[in-house]
Amino acid sequence: MVGSGTTLVECRLLKRRAIGVDINPEAVMVARDRLNFDLGLLDSDFVEPEIRTYVGDARTLDRVPDSSVDLIATHPPYASIVSYSNHRVPGDLSSIRRIDEFVGEMLVFAREAFRVVRPGRHCAILMGDTRRHRHYVPIAARVMMAFLEAGFVLREDITKLQWNMKSTRESWAGKKYDFLLLAHEHLFVFRKLSEAESGSDFKDSNWWGSRG
Ligand SMILES: C[S@@+](CC[C@H](N)C(=O)[O-])C[C@H]1O[C@@H](n2cnc3c(N)ncnc32)[C@H](O)[C@@H]1O
Repeated sequence: MVGSGTTLVECRLLKRRAIGVDINPEAVMVARDRLNFDLGLLDSDFVEPEIRTYVGDARTLDRVPDSSVDLIATHPPYASIVSYSNHRVPGDLSSIRRIDEFVGEMLVFAREAFRVVRPGRHCAILMGDTRRHRHYVPIAARVMMAFLEAGFVLREDITKLQWNMKSTRESWAGKKYDFLLLAHEHLFVFRKLSEAESGSDFKDSNWWGSRG
């Protein structure tokens, strides 16, 4: 779910090997284009890291071997809040409006993420919530539970404030509406336990998941 490739650009700057996958061919084209920048001026000793991109479904990472990835950094759609392909690309998770169905597909993705992450390493996922009929729909909490169910343990839940919305928040101030503006997202940092940890006290960390 690499989108326009911000994560890959950071990988290149940090000299990290990376694989970027997106279901939308246009996103992969944009990501490839954004990776095409000159680094020679910044660092004369620069050694190019291997960065691969391909069009594919994050729920079946068939080009990625088991236990081979040190870090997944991903920003999936938040159900259908923003459509990334105007529903034209089959398999695009932003075309799913029903929250139950979306969470079910995120569980499929979480299991695939668990398969490819190396034991002891991390999977970070940015997720937001929405409102329907003026009520809060906790998509992020449900996706977090799906990752626990897939076998991960939660290392951090970092709140990302949408800082550029400050003025909107202030003018909002409950004048016209009887609900608050959503102005944060969750950056969940999960970890796949090492084999040694799986058999230890750590298993209590995953109080929800089937591997707990
Ligand atoms: C929130 S955007 C990612 C934005 C990204 N952080 C960036 O810098 O542009 C979500 C992306 O997930 C992709 N996507 C949706 N369903 C997918 C799936 N099943 N497999 C892979 N990518 C998918 C969409 O095409 C979209 O590019």
